Amino acid sequence: MKVLVVGNGGREHALVWKISQSPLVKEIYCTLGNAGIDRIAKKVNISPTEVEALADFALKEGIDFTVVGPEAPLVEGIADAFERRGLKIFGPSKEASRLEGSKAFAKKFMERHGIPTAEYEVFEDPDLAEKYVREKGTPIVVKADGLAGGKGSVVCNTEEEAIRTIHRFMREGVFGESGRRVVIEEFLEGEEASYIVMVNGESYVPLPTSQDHKRLLDGDRGPNTGGMGAYSPTPVIDPETEGRIREEIVERTLKGLKEEGIFYRGFLYVGLMITEEGPKVLEFNVRLGDPEAQPILMRIKNDFLEAMLEFYEGKKVSIQEDERWALDVVIASEGYPESPKKGVEIKGIEEAEREEEVVIFHAGTTIREGKVVTNGGRVLNVCAYGRTLKEAKERAYRAVSKIRFEGMHFRKDIGDKAFKYLG
Ligand code: AMP
Ligand code: GLY
Repeated sequence: MKVLVVGNGGREHALVWKISQSPLVKEIYCTLGNAGIDRIAKKVNISPTEVEALADFALKEGIDFTVVGPEAPLVEGIADAFERRGLKIFGPSKEASRLEGSKAFAKKFMERHGIPTAEYEVFEDPDLAEKYVREKGTPIVVKADGLAGGKGSVVCNTEEEAIRTIHRFMREGVFGESGRRVVIEEFLEGEEASYIVMVNGESYVPLPTSQDHKRLLDGDRGPNTGGMGAYSPTPVIDPETEGRIREEIVERTLKGLKEEGIFYRGFLYVGLMITEEGPKVLEFNVRLGDPEAQPILMRIKNDFLEAMLEFYEGKKVSIQEDERWALDVVIASEGYPESPKKGVEIKGIEEAEREEEVVIFHAGTTIREGKVVTNGGRVLNVCAYGRTLKEAKERAYRAVSKIRFEGMHFRKDIGDKAFKYLG
């Protein structure tokens, strides 16, 4: 078969790596690529958001199955463009992608269907938004309604910060139209975790659990990022919590979609806060998480292409999980997340890859004059397996220590939050 992966970051390198292990694959393609992806996949020189051009390419090239990594093409309607041409694609329609594309839509949807989430209000008038913040007090969370590359949610500890955020989003328009409308919500206390399922209409199958590390700095300090590291599985989601997530969140979501006549096929990512009252939704994403996908895909023992295809066709599939842990440390460029420096030579990748049970997924990398150089904010995902989480962590960081480039930085505490549950 010919398979196309849309996107070109760490998550897509992991998808290409996993899918290419399937004996069903004859040829694998990926949009734009990076220095890691290009070793396995044929590069397609069309940007992920040029959805009509990609669908034309897939038709002409005879692509049998397409998997979408990032949210932007889904919100843009890539699934609709492929399906209009009779092409198979794993990813939700434009309509269904509003669960991620509009936080106001997602919150109202959750409210209609009794899905636990933080209390909230939606505002299109900055004066009313400011008044609400003054009434409610802090901490409080201000969120841009539309897509903002992981930077659109700000946990505000003071009234002043909340008002400044409202000003930046709504009056200055730092995220353009995405921030003209905001959701302001209650601050939830607890432990975060990610729960991702594959959905096909009314049926779903859970993937391994995971935990992301969204803040830039150790100890969950600094600004939110796209994610600085992840591991799988997470003890934060114990069997009882998982039961509640399935019943109170995933199943109510699928039932709600059906009642509203919205067909959903693709990955559904539930970003959770596990509070004292139980699991509550922080956000829905209509795709795999990045960096969560990397350790998750490392731990899936199935032929994942076959599993996706069978699930797509309406068959029942179950995911076989590797007993080992997997942990991913993201190495970022100088200046990330604000203004990452590009074009810096990276050394030591091959040496790091020779470490025991280590897999490296490239994100923002490219080849220039025969050398691997940085090409984005998140640069490499250094991942390792371990029989214990501690072993996975030690291996990943040993491999990280082999990599060198000017201005590189990474968190040193990936996985640490799990240890208190593990004794
Ligand atoms: P989101 O874009 O909604 O996933 O938010 C990004 C990050 O902000 C989350 O991963 C949390 O760390 C934090 N966050 C978002 N909403 C809340 C909330 N209601 N309470 C506490 N933290 C939140
Ligand atoms: N790692 C969080 C996300 O993919 O949105």
